Amino acid sequence: MDEMGPLKLTPYLKENQIRQKVQAMGAAITDQFRNKDLLAVCVLKGSFMFYSDLIRELDLDLSCEFCGLSSYQNEVKSSGEVRITLDLNSPIKNRHVLLIEDIVDTGITMNFLRTHLMSRKPASLTTATLLLKPHALKVKCELDHVGFEIPNDFVVGYGLDYQGYYRNLPYIAQIQSLN
Ligand code: IMP
Ligand code: MG
Repeated sequence: MDEMGPLKLTPYLKENQIRQKVQAMGAAITDQFRNKDLLAVCVLKGSFMFYSDLIRELDLDLSCEFCGLSSYQNEVKSSGEVRITLDLNSPIKNRHVLLIEDIVDTGITMNFLRTHLMSRKPASLTTATLLLKPHALKVKCELDHVGFEIPNDFVVGYGLDYQGYYRNLPYIAQIQSLN
């Protein structure tokens, strides 16, 4: 989806693989938070699809919050700078917070967000990410629930974009020409 026309995609995680993983993560998170009041935070934009599927697997009383972060300025490599583009709409003090991310690459975004939210004194802060690139990590990153560990290739779909496109794919694909 650039001046060269549509990029070549290689399917990587199929819809049913994602669904099974999201169900398993949902079951584990439900067990963890049984009888607790949960605040589920979606990190926009990339997590919107994973978030909406995951919270439907949570058999819990929960409320929803959204925050917007940006670390990529239409690049495939992280700029290392994180900007808050949308802050939470309600206080998290004394709440059990579940932070839901699409992908952890360098870890800079998750690390920044964790530090930022911890300063607001939640009762607890738990992190969940669908994807983790363990070999791309540049900073220490505490992750509680990880869906898939993947190689250092750029992936799109299921909420993840390349230059704003491909978020609507129901599966996850690698972009061939970027690898
Ligand atoms: P980090 O701060 O380097 O961990 O980057 C996290 C953010 O970078 C994610 O929330 C994504 O928005 C973006 N990102 C990292 N890797 C990929 C990828 O392979 N495809 C699409 N977006 C990615
Ligand atoms: Mg993101």
